Amino acid sequence: MKHPVPAEQISGIVLETVSNFIHYIDPGLGKQMRLMAEDFVEWEAQGPYIWDIHGNEYLDGMTFGGVFGLGHRHPRVVEAVKQQLDRMPLSSRLAFNKPMADLGRLLAEVTPGDLQYTFVCSSGTESIEVALKLARLTTQRPHIVSTLSSFHGMSIACSSVSGIDYWRQGFFPLLDGVSLVPFGDIDALRKAVSPMTAAVLLEAVQAGSGCTVPPAGYLQQVRELCDRLGIMLVVDEIQTGFGRTGKMFGVDHEGVVPDIMCLGKFLGGGVMAIGACTYRPVVQQAADKRPLFNNTTFGGNPLACAAAIAAVRTVLDENLVERARVLGDRLGAMLDGLITKYPTVVEGAKGLGLMRTFVVRSIPQAFVVVQELISKHRTLLLSPVHTPTMFRVNPPINATDEVMDRILDAIDQSVAKAASMSELDMARNIQELQRKAAAMA
Ligand SMILES: Cc1ncc(COP(=O)(O)O)c(C=O)c1O
Repeated sequence: MKHPVPAEQISGIVLETVSNFIHYIDPGLGKQMRLMAEDFVEWEAQGPYIWDIHGNEYLDGMTFGGVFGLGHRHPRVVEAVKQQLDRMPLSSRLAFNKPMADLGRLLAEVTPGDLQYTFVCSSGTESIEVALKLARLTTQRPHIVSTLSSFHGMSIACSSVSGIDYWRQGFFPLLDGVSLVPFGDIDALRKAVSPMTAAVLLEAVQAGSGCTVPPAGYLQQVRELCDRLGIMLVVDEIQTGFGRTGKMFGVDHEGVVPDIMCLGKFLGGGVMAIGACTYRPVVQQAADKRPLFNNTTFGGNPLACAAAIAAVRTVLDENLVERARVLGDRLGAMLDGLITKYPTVVEGAKGLGLMRTFVVRSIPQAFVVVQELISKHRTLLLSPVHTPTMFRVNPPINATDEVMDRILDAIDQSVAKAASMSELDMARNIQELQRKAAAMA
């Protein structure tokens, strides 16, 4: 840690931060965070590490769905952003913006087939919104088919095309004309599409359901179906893009070229917020008829584009797609091994490359694993609110062997701890957490 906080200031800052969060940001979330990782105020980050304000070092094994795919504050990305900051951070939007133009070209080069034009925005959600607009514009049709258990963002349109109930409940009515079909089921998709379908939207590996890999050939079958019926194939590569699955893009596993590809997370190099929607000439031809079909104040700002260019170039120059494939094979073998090593705790593992999950059998076990990971091993994995028994393992794609060893050891030992506890011990542990929660109320 390079910027330690003077010891006498720490407790004051912690108190103020936690109190402000609970009083002015989100009381429920604040209390939950305190319960699991008492007063964990993040302060500094570098590479795969995050330090809390006390100077405790945590290993980032989840990278927030790949945002920190190059680790935190990758020097090349930081340098590119600093240089751009010194010159021109935001665009007037009246003149040619060089970083945005350069990024467009780079994305055309690295994305498959004839994907060529890019709308640059500030988040994954926005890129999905743009994709839906473009699909309607191109086909002049209204309907969208998406997949059950998917997650594509939190706006009303994105909630409408997301298949995880938790993110939809409470926001009805959502968009009309959306159908949701099981991911990986080509027959269900065939039944759901019609001459009114503008787009089929899916991920190459479905993140929200626990990194579900579709059956071999599925993406190609979807491509053929869309071609036959003039439907836009929109692939959300917001988590799967830029090497995460062991190929540059998830669709590359099947040699499929979508009509529209949505990008985000990793693209900001772990330093800036950015989203992008990249599409084929046929889509651009429709957009030509509707100049400024979309616009945004901050989208494509030079800072974010400079970060994105540096991030993508780093993947290419450091051969990180291959690195992710090698590390991913190791991670997959280890997680699969947990099922046989700890059968009373781990009931499943799935995923591709460095995008994986393992699932434990019960909520009390999940609590133990989370507590062990955070408090004892200081390793951060994501356990989604809608499926708390699931653990996302999503390390940086440039992780060293030592970092991978640490993540794998932390997982093994945390699961071993849950396996060693009796049901009574775990019930007592939950009671203790409930007591703490009540004390915080
Ligand atoms: C697959 C997928 N699509 C879309 C989104 C939405 O992106 P953002 O949160 O940047 O708006 C996410 C975010 O987690 C995602 O995982």
